[in-house]
Amino acid sequence: MIALSLAEIAEIVGGQPHDIPDPSVTVTGPVVIDSRQVAAGSLFVAFAGERVDGHDYAQRAFEAGCAVVLAARPVGVPAIVVDDVQAALGALARDVVRRLGTEVVALTGSSGKTSTKDLIAQVLQRHAPTVFTPGSLNNEIGLPLTALTASADTRHLVLEMGARGIGHIRYLTGLTPPRIGLVLNVGTAHIGEFGGRDQIALAKGELVEVLPEDGCAVLNADDPLVRAMASRTKARVLLFGEAKDADVRAENVRLTASGQPSFSLHTPSGCSDVTLRLYGEHHVSNALAAAAVAHELGMSADEIARALSEAGTLSRWRMEVTERPDGVTVVNDAYNANPESMRAALRALAAMGNGRRTWAVLGPMAELGDDSLAEHDAVGRLAVRLNVSKLVAVGGREASWLQLGAYNEGSWGEESVHVSDAQAAVDLLRSELRPGDVVLVKASRSIGLERVALALLDNAVEGEVAAR
Ligand SMILES: Nc1ncnc2c1ncn2[C@@H]1O[C@H](COP(=O)(O)OP(=O)(O)OP(=O)(O)O)[C@@H](O)[C@H]1O
Ligand SMILES: [Mg+2]
Repeated sequence: MIALSLAEIAEIVGGQPHDIPDPSVTVTGPVVIDSRQVAAGSLFVAFAGERVDGHDYAQRAFEAGCAVVLAARPVGVPAIVVDDVQAALGALARDVVRRLGTEVVALTGSSGKTSTKDLIAQVLQRHAPTVFTPGSLNNEIGLPLTALTASADTRHLVLEMGARGIGHIRYLTGLTPPRIGLVLNVGTAHIGEFGGRDQIALAKGELVEVLPEDGCAVLNADDPLVRAMASRTKARVLLFGEAKDADVRAENVRLTASGQPSFSLHTPSGCSDVTLRLYGEHHVSNALAAAAVAHELGMSADEIARALSEAGTLSRWRMEVTERPDGVTVVNDAYNANPESMRAALRALAAMGNGRRTWAVLGPMAELGDDSLAEHDAVGRLAVRLNVSKLVAVGGREASWLQLGAYNEGSWGEESVHVSDAQAAVDLLRSELRPGDVVLVKASRSIGLERVALALLDNAVEGEVAAR
């Protein structure tokens, strides 16, 4: 964090100093919520979680060199005590970002936030020093912590914003007011909690409502619910997508034989060819979104195309492709799943197949409410329509719906199978995989299906694979 004295911090967060002999001491180190990450000069934020209470670790944080603890009660070491630790952390982030004058790019959407944020970061880094959300830390704690890593030379702050209900995005934008706001898509992620797609659009659209007049709303022209958000902002609108009227668009989109998208990028400043290193056609939309942001920040089409073509995956388990020595390709997309991302991943698998045997090892998609049966059924059917060689549905009731969908679409029981858990899937795959097969592994986060992909890869390292 930028250097601030304990007295300044107490004032910003409206807190009471306790056990502070010298209020002119400055915080110079990182702001952390885990005492194991404390470095010299840190600010340790003590959260009282369900299982662990950060206040119990204040002494340890102090011994590790932290300058002060932000806490809800005195802790026997230098502390700034506040009523609401989360609100205080937010207030500190807001103040620091304002002092720095850093340009904030905020993005939200149902699918692809982390993938797109990573693309934006890799493109903007070519342009100017950029700080961005690590992984998917997109909530009321991760967002201020990320913002507080910005320093005086940070030009761009790229922040992923997640929402599980109305008002969440508004809260996050209050902490780090963006000038550029990007909405990727309105899908069905967390639809059960939201209570419908229109509610999701209402929640995501809060991002463009807060943009200033000299701001820019970057909206997906191909998603009607996102396009409609143009009426909810005073900012200028920049459309991206494959639609003819999009300001930043892709033409001649195709997948290479290895499943990587290639297209010609058109921006108002010119056009240039892109071949992504990422897998799956859904990344075209993500790349266009990143290109639109970069265009708004003054980069040329050539610069953007070059940066996009060189960008890799920064966050784990998202279409992570590993070639095993025996020629089996494992695609670990087990970070999360919803109906849109399931479809996108299945299409990528089909393209990667290209004459090879393809396996879709799929688990439940969580939080779909009343749509759950229909959505699982539809994914099972799509696997058959795309000619995926074998669907392995893993888990309980939802998995049986996946398998039944495939069966009813005409898999005749040969091409789809239902197994009870990850271990059963691993056992099946170990005995059935052959060199040249491509295996996609995907389910909602709570299922932990990455264990299947990791087991398949460990196995290869140990050379135990039954390659028949
Ligand atoms: N534009 C897209 N459309 C559909 N699916 C996508 C898109 N981009 C990424 N995905 C898929 O969605 C899943 C989640 O991707 P990612 O982590 O980038 O999204 P996210 O919005 O950050 O998710 P979360 O809400 O968990 O933070 C991955 O399986 C990825 O392959
Ligand atoms: Mg994410």
